[in-house]
Amino acid sequence: MNVEYKDIVDKVKKTESITREEFGILYNTETKEESEYLFEAARSVAQAYFGKAVYLRGLIEFTNYCKNDCYYCGIRCGNKSAERYRLSEEEILSCCEIGDKLGFKTFVLQGGEDAYFTDDMICDIVRKIKAKFPKAAVTLSIGEKSYESYKKYYDAGADRYLLRHETANEEHYSKLHPSNLSGAHRKQCLRDLKDIGFQIGCGIMVGTPYQTDDNIYEDIEFMKELKPHMIGIGPFIAHKDTPFKDEPNGSADKTVILLAILRLLFPKVLLPATTALGTADVKGRERGILAGANVIMPNLSPTNVRGKYLLYDGKICTGEEAAECNVCLRRRVESVGYKVEDVRGDHPDFVK
Ligand code: SAM
Ligand code: FES
Repeated sequence: MNVEYKDIVDKVKKTESITREEFGILYNTETKEESEYLFEAARSVAQAYFGKAVYLRGLIEFTNYCKNDCYYCGIRCGNKSAERYRLSEEEILSCCEIGDKLGFKTFVLQGGEDAYFTDDMICDIVRKIKAKFPKAAVTLSIGEKSYESYKKYYDAGADRYLLRHETANEEHYSKLHPSNLSGAHRKQCLRDLKDIGFQIGCGIMVGTPYQTDDNIYEDIEFMKELKPHMIGIGPFIAHKDTPFKDEPNGSADKTVILLAILRLLFPKVLLPATTALGTADVKGRERGILAGANVIMPNLSPTNVRGKYLLYDGKICTGEEAAECNVCLRRRVESVGYKVEDVRGDHPDFVK
């Protein structure tokens, strides 16, 4: 193995920092021996804080209506072929009931930016979930809102908020989104959420069109400044009804390497092995765990709508029931020597 590669891994692990040059070397490793060394280092860091635990987050995709037109996303408003749906409050609560029986201690409500769900409705749903499942954490992932709206959700009991910043570079951001959306506003939302008291998750897609290594390094710098509790990364996967339909998919190999680098840089962060990673590679989620990831987000959406929340082509788990994914995932986690722990799985430093 290249001695330099090994030295850089050791240095990044020790200092929790990385230069642009070091990042380029680690991210572009060409040998299995090197990436194995990186993964081993990432696993040892994850295990120091989390042991061999993997946390589950039950994902409820409650609406695929969206007012935005992001060029990469299958539920963009411009996609007239998408069959739209919304879950009722009762349906959402029944997903939580199923998740509760399966042992899940976090429910993630995710959806497009859908004005049908007013702040009052969201707060009502959050309050009902918290009243029925007081030991569970509620995570929202419903896009860019005002400070006031976020504050209302928090006061209603929501614990966490996921909002990937997508890319920290404004020029790159403008190549992925129409001009009414800005990276600056998305970053401000994340700062607002943190200020209010949420545990926050930012993140990017790996291999989006026009993405450069410089962009990813800027993402790392932004994340170092933001100090999120969770970082969600997954490969970009093209959707056939979007402007990026002919763009190449992001690579699962690159995604796992970036997961490992992030684990070294953010030892205590919650790091999911995403569904997109499991779509890009059948063993993607297992590989993610072996590269330092410690969260998996099984789908809890009712089977009759799963095939409609299609952000990208080929999404896995659209035909399975929640119970099937639950068994499948626990098995997958165990197959690589880890164990699902049925706890809330907050960030180690988080005290409410
Ligand atoms: N509307 C909310 C928001 O904006 O955060 C939540 C839903 S949004 C669809 C969730 C995430 O899906 C995005 O942040 C994006 O990173 C990811 N995503 C969208 N299209 C994708 C694609 N084609 N491939 C991989 N991930 C994608
Ligand atoms: Fe859904 Fe494996 S996680 S079938």
